[in-house]
Amino acid sequence: MRGIILAGGSGTRLWPLTAATNKSLLPVFDKPMIYYPITNLMLYGIREVLIITNENQVPLFQNLLGNGNQWGIEISYAIQDKPSGIAQAISIGQDFIGSENFALILGDNLIYGPGIGRNLISQLSFPGATMTIYEVANPSEYGVAYLNQKDEVTEIIEKPLDGKSNWAIPGLYFFDCNSIELVKDLKPSPRGELEITELLRTYLRSSKLKTIKLPRGTAWLDLGNPRSLLDASEFIKSLQTRQGLLIGSPEETAWRMGYVGSSTVSIPVNIQNEYSEILKDLRND
Ligand code: DAU
Repeated sequence: MRGIILAGGSGTRLWPLTAATNKSLLPVFDKPMIYYPITNLMLYGIREVLIITNENQVPLFQNLLGNGNQWGIEISYAIQDKPSGIAQAISIGQDFIGSENFALILGDNLIYGPGIGRNLISQLSFPGATMTIYEVANPSEYGVAYLNQKDEVTEIIEKPLDGKSNWAIPGLYFFDCNSIELVKDLKPSPRGELEITELLRTYLRSSKLKTIKLPRGTAWLDLGNPRSLLDASEFIKSLQTRQGLLIGSPEETAWRMGYVGSSTVSIPVNIQNEYSEILKDLRND
């Protein structure tokens, strides 16, 4: 499986934090936001990653992530000229996808918890698509799945106002390569975007959409405004401090997944801080 991270957009809700940088490069406690989705993909066993972002911000990501070799993965980059919808990432990434299945994750989604790694991957169903759902108190801000009494998804609506379902659809999706053709038939929504929820509906209508409920203990954190960004930092800080472990560290994940050896856990030589100390301990494990 391959992985695409969509990290474009204008980040207006976080302005002026995003005036000179990309939202996905902002800090969530001790690491850039994009480290979390990259780590998710690595935990799924994905080693080929495409990052899609705005043209003028590609160099910022390249400075941070390079070609991924330091973590035993391959990172390449593609450009989205303007934010015309999440589903457009599939058209932009079609050469990268080729005939493979792939995960599509949003650069501003932080999903963490038991059952989100190999357990999730073991439940995917191909050919077809898989989405996750997660119970939230504020569903009208998200794509929402409606379930019947047998817990089957009957409808998917983008940002509904009816409050009839609390099952939001996080920005983590798994598709087969047929999605490349299906995206070509999508029409822009009233907000002018190729909606990912519209693509999911296409799979739903042909009974090729699998849905996985994320376990209650999962954290899917909103990073969309300054308050929720600070809350997410506090959450990561509390958990890391309590456990002395890192959350969302590609360096650690590369080592745990066996993508690099313990002697090659990548830390620049001149760095000495809490983050690097935890990584150095791995080398001595
Ligand atoms: O976070 C999950 C939600 O993401 C889903 O539940 C919704 O179904 C989905 O439409 C999306 O909702 P939003 O409308 O809130 O997404 P937003 O426009 O904030 O974009 C999410 C991220 O994706 C954001 O960091 C910018 C990036 N993006 C978005 C679009 C539309 C792009 O890079 N390019 C785009 O064209």
